[in-house]
Amino acid sequence: MEDTRAFIRERYGRAVAGRAGETTGRHGCAGVPDLTRSAYDEATLAGSSLNAVAQSFGCGNPTAEAGLRPGERVLDLGCGAGLDLLLAARAVGPSGRVIGLDMTDEMLHAASRNVAGQGNISLLRGYLEDIPLPDGSLDVVLSNCVINLSPDKEKCLSEAFRVLRPGGRLCVADIVLLHPLSKKAAESLALWSSCVSGALSEEQYVALLERTGFTAIHLRRTATHAFPDVLAAMAFPDCTPEERLEMDGALASAIVKAVRPVF
Ligand SMILES: C[S@@+](CC[C@H](N)C(=O)[O-])C[C@H]1O[C@@H](n2cnc3c(N)ncnc32)[C@H](O)[C@@H]1O
Repeated sequence: MEDTRAFIRERYGRAVAGRAGETTGRHGCAGVPDLTRSAYDEATLAGSSLNAVAQSFGCGNPTAEAGLRPGERVLDLGCGAGLDLLLAARAVGPSGRVIGLDMTDEMLHAASRNVAGQGNISLLRGYLEDIPLPDGSLDVVLSNCVINLSPDKEKCLSEAFRVLRPGGRLCVADIVLLHPLSKKAAESLALWSSCVSGALSEEQYVALLERTGFTAIHLRRTATHAFPDVLAAMAFPDCTPEERLEMDGALASAIVKAVRPVF
């Protein structure tokens, strides 16, 4: 597990540094170009720091789907450079609290610059698979294009379940696989860290949430990603042409919601 996390950390550390000072995002998670601009409308992005937008690597807009209310306590798993923290902080207001958890120092540094001055946001260094927060301490767990990266999704979702209070909500945007990849692609760390080969199928995602104990599970596909080879070559420079071919039509973005039952 540590080898995979170290590879991912190195990759996202480099990626976020490369986007400092840019005014527009390039490839989002899963290499989709300008995914941030298609996932969030202009009105939502207005008022967020340009770096927070440019340094976003998400594949959806979980904050818009979470029904956040003033005063709620929210955790963003794999918060990256902090765009969703800013949006969640706006929704929960000054009486609420938003915590961003990430394992990559460069991401946390970028986030601390991007959310500076927001008194209801705090940042935490740690792993999805071992969340450094007490049981039942949160109303909502958000995540944007991160759970597919976890080498131990069962642990990650059981940790999300543990930190939610009974009745608390999970709301994540993630990549799902529409057809299985070849063994070689499935074992590629380059593809894993690109949010491709670690992705679950829709059926696997729902089954895992059920096994963890979540109820009211809803998974909705929000976009299907096509990759003409020239685009795939730009988005996945580390992959072979054969690996890139496999991705065309194999990936979708989804919003996944679930609730920790009260009893
Ligand atoms: C694809 S980026 C998404 C970042 C952010 N959610 C966004 O929408 O821009 C994945 C993020 O998850 C973090 N991450 C990946 N695996 C992690 C793990 N096991 N524990 C903690 N953070 C992790 C990475 O450091 C990176 O910041």
